[in-house]
Amino acid sequence: MIFSFLLPLVLMILSPPSAPGSTWSCLSECVCGQDGQVNCSGRELHSVPMILDPSVQVLLLDHNHMDFLPPGAFALLPRLLSLELQDNGLQRIHVHAFWGLEVLKSLDLSSNALQALEPGTFRPLRALHTLSLAGNRLMRLEPTWLGPLPLLQNLNLQNNLLSSMGSRVLERLPALRILNLHGNPWVCDCTISSLCRWLQSHAHQVPGAESLLCVSPDRLTLRPMAAITEASFNYCTHLLTPWDLVVIIMIGPFSFLASLVCCFIFGSVVTAFQARRKNRSVRCYPVKRPIPQTLGLGDSSKNPTTNFPTLPSL
Ligand SMILES: *[C@@H]1O[C@H](CO)[C@@H](O)[C@H](O)[C@H]1NC(C)=O
Repeated sequence: MIFSFLLPLVLMILSPPSAPGSTWSCLSECVCGQDGQVNCSGRELHSVPMILDPSVQVLLLDHNHMDFLPPGAFALLPRLLSLELQDNGLQRIHVHAFWGLEVLKSLDLSSNALQALEPGTFRPLRALHTLSLAGNRLMRLEPTWLGPLPLLQNLNLQNNLLSSMGSRVLERLPALRILNLHGNPWVCDCTISSLCRWLQSHAHQVPGAESLLCVSPDRLTLRPMAAITEASFNYCTHLLTPWDLVVIIMIGPFSFLASLVCCFIFGSVVTAFQARRKNRSVRCYPVKRPIPQTLGLGDSSKNPTTNFPTLPSL
């Protein structure tokens, strides 16, 4: 794995610096134009061809059979501006596949078989303006799968299997101007409330926003997503989260234990206090004891100490 990632880098270091089209002769299976375009479209390719011309700006790899993009697949093409990979049956993209494509502006991954993306796959693409993931099999989209893409203006998610999407996906795309969401089976339950809210305030950025329809639940089937009012999601805030349930279940035993502990502490304090008082009063008895008359120290009636109640002799 590491070798496949390092190989393009080693080759890049070893290969002599070349002026556009000078030392590098075009791959036999591709057509190379003078304008930095390499056309490998529809050439029955099963893997990314090794292109050793760092001046290439446009690479057409569409309509081939590449089901996997390995790490560093385009690391030798630092000036690439446009990359077309549509119609390849692409199933997996290595998280480092787009390493080194720092000036890439346009990436077309449409009409493939992608079900998921690894977090950070697009992170090297700091200059990306246009991204198409249309016509794949994405069932969900996590915020870390796409962003952050600071310059992305145009995102196409048409014709996937998306049933919901959090607004946090869009928060990581601050420059977004056009978002295509058609052809997805949107489920208009609580998880979609933030997307509906976003649609209402950004309808001008979503072509045909008014015709995005819910496929379920029954009561909202075929309702336009952008027309669902905030009130329709009121019930969502009253739903119990799993954490709420845990808290509720724990309150009973916990309060029982807590009251036991309180009783124990209170009981201990009272007992200790009483024992201490008893101790002290036992210590005091000899002082308060009337002087026995048998000692013959005078008239007992004149002795104020005899006014104390008579204690049983010890
Ligand atoms: C690329 O090559 C294919 C097949 O030769 C051709 O049909 C297509 O028009 C070419 N694309 C461009 C943009 O030159």
